[in-house]
Amino acid sequence: MADSLPFPIARVGIIGGGQLARMMVKAAKRLGCTCVVLDPTPDSPAGQVAGRQIVGGYHDADKLRELAAATDVITYDLEHIATEPLMALASGGVRIQPAPELLALVQDKLTQKRFFAQHGIPTADFTAADSLTPEAFAAFGFPLVQKARRGGYDGRGVAVMRGPEDFDRHLPVPSLLERFVAASKEIAVIVARGADGTCRCYPPVEMGFSDQNVLDLLLAPAAIDAAAAERARDIALKTVQALNGVGVFGVEMFLTDDGDVLVNEVAPRTHNSGHHTIEACVTDQFEQHLRAVLGLPLGSTEQLRPAAMINLLGDPASQGAARISGMRQALAIDGVCLHLYGKDTTKPHRKMGHVTVLDHDIDSARAKAEQVRALIKITGEETL
Ligand SMILES: Nc1ncnc2c1ncn2[C@@H]1O[C@H](COP(=O)(O)OP(=O)(O)O)[C@@H](O)[C@H]1O
Ligand SMILES: [Mg+2]
Repeated sequence: MADSLPFPIARVGIIGGGQLARMMVKAAKRLGCTCVVLDPTPDSPAGQVAGRQIVGGYHDADKLRELAAATDVITYDLEHIATEPLMALASGGVRIQPAPELLALVQDKLTQKRFFAQHGIPTADFTAADSLTPEAFAAFGFPLVQKARRGGYDGRGVAVMRGPEDFDRHLPVPSLLERFVAASKEIAVIVARGADGTCRCYPPVEMGFSDQNVLDLLLAPAAIDAAAAERARDIALKTVQALNGVGVFGVEMFLTDDGDVLVNEVAPRTHNSGHHTIEACVTDQFEQHLRAVLGLPLGSTEQLRPAAMINLLGDPASQGAARISGMRQALAIDGVCLHLYGKDTTKPHRKMGHVTVLDHDIDSARAKAEQVRALIKITGEETL
């Protein structure tokens, strides 16, 4: 039969064994795939579920070759990986999606922003910060945002400066300077693009951030007007099409006070702002990503119920062997879907799990999510 597939459907290699990979492994198993995870920490969150983990660094060419030999296609759950070994593997015929060239482009925030500018994708004005001096910052003008070109995540690598007095807090690393955006909301659109160029977008979501710049409260769908939602979807789609990406992409955007949509950044992977899709949408972002990289048809992105999501972060005042309190009370609330990531040690603000609350309307979903946040605490044995 021309259309028959073997078992397993595919052997999927995943670079990075964190929570995103863990949730991807679960989806992969549902689709009849097997998984091998590459991560330096034995028994990583994804390794526990995959059943097979290669213990090694993301940059280790030998371990990457071992991963390639054991799998049919390779993908990743983080963007901070060396791309040269991936490019070498790809030129030798190994299937890696999204493509290593795309990863190289977006893992440097300056080349990413230049790409947006070249392709007419609206984004805040920026410049390369060639010299990190008070004069250079003043010449660009305040308020500004200094961003490390590489290695940032969850706000590490971002410094917001209101005026010259903030220069003392500048990051001593290769950077870009960006115009501070007075955003009324931060929103995100998850876009899936298949190998044949077919695209599907999830409805825009609204993101609130903590002081630590970790996603704090996600509301899906975003409470924005229909015109802004359509504009956000169009821009997110255009971004992923311009990148020629295959897989799932998280496109983070600002909705400005005067109604413009500006792209902040794009993540070449599943995204924290898409966790609600597991319960709230017909096809979740993890399965969708696999469908894309395996060349299978994409699924419906329709959202069935309003959802609010919170991350469960490690208590700021302790670390070590983790305990969770409030779990029983939280699970007793209707609509609460709890995910723990299998991390047995905690540290301040570490992402230990998340909770998605489904309800008939977004306001009650949100209220329950806030209630869960107040109930659940994840603490470590050692007080800091
Ligand atoms: N130009 C900007 N104007 C205003 N706030 C910004 C700007 N750029 C980033 N931020 C804030 O900093 C956060 C983190 O920046 P981002 O570039 O998304 O870095 P990360 O890679 O850590 O997610 C954003 O979610 C937003 O709250
Ligand atoms: Mg971001």
